Amino acid sequence: MNAFMNYTRDKLWQIEQVGFDPEVLGKTEAIMALGNGYMGARASEEESYVGETRDIFVAGTFNQFDENEVTELPNVPDMWAMNFYFNGKSFTLLDGEVKDYRKKLNLKNGLLSREMIWICGDLKLKFVFRKFISKARRHVLSSHVKVQNMTDEVVKVHLRSGINGQVSNEGSQHFTDGEKGLMVGKYIQMMPQTTHSKIQFVQTVEHRITVPSKNRPETGRRSFFMNYDFELPSNGTVEIEKRGSIYTSIDNDLEFRDLEHIRIKAVDDMEAIEEMTFDDLLEESAIAWQKIWDKHPIIIESKNFKDQLAIRFATYHLHIMTPAHDERMNIGAKGMSGEGYKGHTFWDTEIFMLPYFTYTHPNIAKKLVTYRYLGLDGAHKKAKSNGLDGAQYPWEAAWPTDGEVTPVWGAADILTGQATKIWSGFIEQHITSDVAFGVKQYLDVTGDTQFAQEKGFEILIDTAKFWASRLEYNQEGDFYEIKDVIGPDEYKEHVNNNAYTNYTAYWNVSFAIQLIDSLRNDQQSVYERLNQKFNFTKLLKILQEKVNKIYLPRPTDEGIIPQDDSYLSKQILDLSVYKSKDGVDSLFHDYNLEQVNQMQVTKQADVLLLMLLFEDLFDKELKLKNFDYYEPKTTHDSSLSLSTHAILSADLGKLNESYDFFNKAIAIDMGEYMKSSDAGIHAASLGGIWQMVVFGYGGVRMFNSKLRIEPHLPKEWSHLEFGFDYQGEALTVKIDQAHFTVSKLDNGQNIVFMHKGQEYTLQNMVTI
Ligand code: BGC
Repeated sequence: MNAFMNYTRDKLWQIEQVGFDPEVLGKTEAIMALGNGYMGARASEEESYVGETRDIFVAGTFNQFDENEVTELPNVPDMWAMNFYFNGKSFTLLDGEVKDYRKKLNLKNGLLSREMIWICGDLKLKFVFRKFISKARRHVLSSHVKVQNMTDEVVKVHLRSGINGQVSNEGSQHFTDGEKGLMVGKYIQMMPQTTHSKIQFVQTVEHRITVPSKNRPETGRRSFFMNYDFELPSNGTVEIEKRGSIYTSIDNDLEFRDLEHIRIKAVDDMEAIEEMTFDDLLEESAIAWQKIWDKHPIIIESKNFKDQLAIRFATYHLHIMTPAHDERMNIGAKGMSGEGYKGHTFWDTEIFMLPYFTYTHPNIAKKLVTYRYLGLDGAHKKAKSNGLDGAQYPWEAAWPTDGEVTPVWGAADILTGQATKIWSGFIEQHITSDVAFGVKQYLDVTGDTQFAQEKGFEILIDTAKFWASRLEYNQEGDFYEIKDVIGPDEYKEHVNNNAYTNYTAYWNVSFAIQLIDSLRNDQQSVYERLNQKFNFTKLLKILQEKVNKIYLPRPTDEGIIPQDDSYLSKQILDLSVYKSKDGVDSLFHDYNLEQVNQMQVTKQADVLLLMLLFEDLFDKELKLKNFDYYEPKTTHDSSLSLSTHAILSADLGKLNESYDFFNKAIAIDMGEYMKSSDAGIHAASLGGIWQMVVFGYGGVRMFNSKLRIEPHLPKEWSHLEFGFDYQGEALTVKIDQAHFTVSKLDNGQNIVFMHKGQEYTLQNMVTI
């Protein structure tokens, strides 16, 4: 392989690829993705290559291509491409000699750059490509090229660049060929519309070239290019800037959303930045980024410098993928860095990414939980279609009211060649208690009573109502059970009494009972309003009747909590050969899902995740036994698995093992394996990186609705520093191997936290 990832100790804000290899374009396209939460784009090259995926997405603009397909986030007409011809020769790194190729992402200011020297025939050119999506102006993106002629001959340059709508999501074309026009003589505009959701897009592009050029517009089907001819002086340079903007008719910052108004607004906004150079725009965006870096910075002093880089990498991606501007949108499992999982939102949000925002940017977390409130209608629809009550959240979600959007058919079975049915949308039901868990954690950490009263309590009660209707009575045993589900371990389909599902459902129901009681006693008006919706007398009776009879799988004599009713009786397979391979799912080269269903093989943390989220229900010895039992049977084929294992093993005192998991987890996207991120980055794993640092080694957790801080650093770390918001106060934690300090400003309320069973009151600083 000619390209590799290069990280250096003195560049702790930089992700770098050295060397160019068209076989591995997907890696940096995804891990160097750009974005600002409003839009996201893969870090595709300016020139085109076979095998590239040049996606640009705008959050929330879902469209269903056809009734046989599910709605997905459409790949927007491309605005980054620039095709150069030098003395008639097309610029491509596949020809000639390429020297000093480096592609870099600066995590601090979100600048993507590429540098190289290209020698082809008589040409010797040095390129510096730079681009970014503005964090300060959500609609604006900009790209800049500097070409230096390293010969004594003048070079004739032809540039074809504009907006190209001949793009698709793996073949599904989501846009009609809208109107096109040249505005004010210089702004190219294209107005495509999504075919089904009828979302109107307005895309505008302007080119600026530092030498005189001859221009010719060229419109085609779904495309609008400008052709420029100019000269590159001998030993001279030319700079080209391509800046643009995207607006849509669902933008919540527009006063008028009809096409004419949006077009005018787009031009006005371009004119407003007329005087600003590429560097001015970049600087403005960098200032917006700096606000994020200044809020609760994390400092890791480690023998391995990549640990510090990894937390910055995770933080960068968590912000570019999250539509912090609009609560009708949520985070996709691949963020906006690829077509994988179609831009859909999973439990990944509540269990993996939301905690980062809840603890560090509660205003953004509020948007994410509000999305679930807006999703109640869809959740009601789903429950009803299954003959159930309450709110049953969709396994995969898109526009909040869409309801279930999980595709029904997936990859071909290796034995039969037939498409495999995806059962998650039907029976992976733990998502409902995961949503409730996320809301409860948000309320515990932030103390946001307004959200609680207006929205949060309702979600917590409506989800409990769903579970009460979902429970099935087992006459023989006189208990309630949950049959025919998929738990977090998706390699076990149609199982009964998945421990994670049953315990979390139990928690959801019992918490709702407590909540209704406390509302009745302490918050009369909220009680009355919700009573109108739920009829509490009737609902409480049902919840109370069932709650203590919910079947909660107990440990076997060996101390193992059965993952489900049948798991422990299945065949055991030695996974060592699969675990040592690069990439995931290698098991499926040898077995199909039906066969794996019959084995004690687990895709990702299941019982162990339960033990992490509900740590007080299980003692340390039991956790150790289960860890030692389940981990060897876990392939970690889902990127959601490693962070859970890292945190739990740190809790259990297995710090070396934990640190191995940590390293494997950070390698999922940042690592050497160049094929791991083709379909997009792993959003949950990035949330997991923050959790490993703050929950795992920082030992911060909500325990029985109380803050708990119990740090334990891996031996490679000498110091860890981070901050978080708790009940409106900003806390800073500084940890070294022997001691730790928690501090906050002296004003404001005192904060009570637990450490090893003891209560501490923090007024200004506590050292332990
Ligand atoms: C995992 C799920 C996850 C989904 C999206 C699957 O491979 O098994 O737990 O929600 O990916 O990230």
